[in-house]
Amino acid sequence: MFETQTPGAGISADELIAQASALLSGQSDLVANAANLSSLLFYAMEEVNWVGFYFLKGGELIVGPFQGRPACVSIPVGKGVCGTAAETLKVQRVADVHMFDGHIACDAASRSEIVLPLILDGELIGVLDLDSPVTSRFGEEDERLLRKIADIFVRSLD
Ligand code: SME
Repeated sequence: MFETQTPGAGISADELIAQASALLSGQSDLVANAANLSSLLFYAMEEVNWVGFYFLKGGELIVGPFQGRPACVSIPVGKGVCGTAAETLKVQRVADVHMFDGHIACDAASRSEIVLPLILDGELIGVLDLDSPVTSRFGEEDERLLRKIADIFVRSLD
């Protein structure tokens, strides 16, 4: 049985990276690893209300495994925070979602958001999305940590 921290335990970045590596090691299934990683992040990170994946299918982002309230099923590339990350291939870190033109509100409680593009063998495969009920929840350190986590996820699929 894989031991994870209690919700909101706020474990260190190194610990979280170690847990993510251990959780995904030896498994390359996309759904299995996305499901377990969304759960790990949701319960280990403080002040998050949605953590999950959208995968690129038929030119759109389609919701994948996640933790949190039910979400929009599909997001066109270029729309919302997720679609912007997918279009630009750049991390989108939004301090106040109400100030982001075109933000798609899946959970009305969300105030800030970070979305990381997932690139496998040079191709976009989807995005990792985290929402928080607190404005400016995600700082530069969170971005660095989540870039490493996203990389662990992408490499697990090879
Ligand atoms: N807010 C996102 C939509 C996905 S939900 O947050 C789960 C966006 O604007 O793309």
